[in-house]
Amino acid sequence: MKVLSVASELYPLIKTGGLADVAGALPGALAPEGVEIRSLIPGYRPVMAALKKAESAAEFEDLFGGPARLLAARVGALDLFVLDAPHLFVRDGGPYGGVDGRDFPDNALRFAALGKVGALIGQGAVPGFVPQVVHAHDWQAGLTAAYLHYSEAPRPGSVITVHNLAFQGQFPAATFGQLGLPPQAFSIEGVEYYGGVGFLKAGLQLSDHITTVSPTYALEIQTSHAGMGLDGLLRARAGELSGILNGIDTQVWNPETDKLVAARYSAKSLAGRAVNKKALQDRFGLERDDKKFLVGVVSRLSWQKGLDLLLQCLPTFEACDAQLAMLVSGDPGLEAAFQEATQTYAGRVGAYFGYEEKLAHLVQAGADAILVPSRFEPCGLTQLCALRYGAPPIVARVGGLADTVVDANEMAVQAGCATGLQFSPVSSEALSGAVRRGAHLFQQKKIWKKIQANGMKADVSWTFPAKHYAEIYAAVAAAQRTAA
Ligand code: ADP
Ligand code: GLC
Repeated sequence: MKVLSVASELYPLIKTGGLADVAGALPGALAPEGVEIRSLIPGYRPVMAALKKAESAAEFEDLFGGPARLLAARVGALDLFVLDAPHLFVRDGGPYGGVDGRDFPDNALRFAALGKVGALIGQGAVPGFVPQVVHAHDWQAGLTAAYLHYSEAPRPGSVITVHNLAFQGQFPAATFGQLGLPPQAFSIEGVEYYGGVGFLKAGLQLSDHITTVSPTYALEIQTSHAGMGLDGLLRARAGELSGILNGIDTQVWNPETDKLVAARYSAKSLAGRAVNKKALQDRFGLERDDKKFLVGVVSRLSWQKGLDLLLQCLPTFEACDAQLAMLVSGDPGLEAAFQEATQTYAGRVGAYFGYEEKLAHLVQAGADAILVPSRFEPCGLTQLCALRYGAPPIVARVGGLADTVVDANEMAVQAGCATGLQFSPVSSEALSGAVRRGAHLFQQKKIWKKIQANGMKADVSWTFPAKHYAEIYAAVAAAQRTAA
């Protein structure tokens, strides 16, 4: 089975969030299932710089305003198609916006190009690799299904994965004329969305199958509360919608072999954790004290992540004599507020502002618990790392967080199956309550150890999710063969 994955981010080449981790992990995870995945990504500057040897697989005289090439290359274990279109992708800034933090004004065309080329490969543009399934990720790849659907040529099966419904790729109606789709595509059955063009909407409407990254999020997005305007469409397609949990790379995230932490440890002997806790306290300017309950956060700072609620809970940390180590980046207002908190609560609250892959490992290995207070969370990866690192996650009971953490309520503690703490609703009061409950449980050493051990035993790998994706690929490919 050959599958083309189409995504705007791919770890380790280009990443702004978990999408990159997942798109980067799926090819390796699916290989044992007999699925050969090649990934199509835009030729951003860092991607082009990572290519040592590349072959031209196709050329385009004019791809949305300039010449472009499709390069085939291998980087590490990843088989890539890189869309080398300098007029669209070689720019200062990130994948979606400039150094000033604003979105690029031509994002519609940039990612229409990605979808268009994804569809062309899907329909045989590269004779050496003709996929049976095209798997698109998020709005940036959303038009892939539209270009496939409105083309006359035979097409492969199509799958779209929603990593975050909050990002929809909505553009004004005037954009439609530039996309090269037939007039009938601008309809409610096609790419039209609230009078404009919706890239994610198009993908959800026109793909053979929809997946999202946890079973609970799959249900949540069918409600008006969390559906962000797309719940009606998702309800209508409920029969073709699956929630498949993400995994993490258990080789990169392995406390027994991790070279990025101060001391390695295992579920059998957690002794190394104390060394990491000390190192973490030093690194974040916290008082060195093994007895204090040290809560870690590794996160983007955005409304989704609910960290503004944590600001209001800092007095609780004082009341419980707990500590907080935050590795965060994003919203400048929140960064300033947490910066101030490091002064107000000097020695108790420490923060590092920036994106630091290496430091994330030390936070996971040294913190007693990892806090994820998201307002919504399609899956979440940090709590999976936390389980594996013996830092029981304290999470909001939403989306994938609800699906991956077993709350340490009395029954679960008695049954010996708790792996962390959940709280609900997502409010500063409930969050404060969870921190207090965590601090209290942490003092009960035997119970806490059991919670840690349970989490470390949990299977957070890609093994099970990969089987589920393979089944879906097989089903959509078979249905497409029947239709053809
Ligand atoms: P999202 O994609 O919504 O940001 P996820 O939990 O799915 O959330 O993925 C976030 C990924 O980014 C994880 O791999 C996490 O460890 C990492 N991460 C987030 N913030 C930081 C940071 N400041 N420094 C290092 N890694 C971070
Ligand atoms: C998105 C979601 C996150 C999920 C990630 C990978 O960034 O916010 O919950 O884990 O995608 O699927």
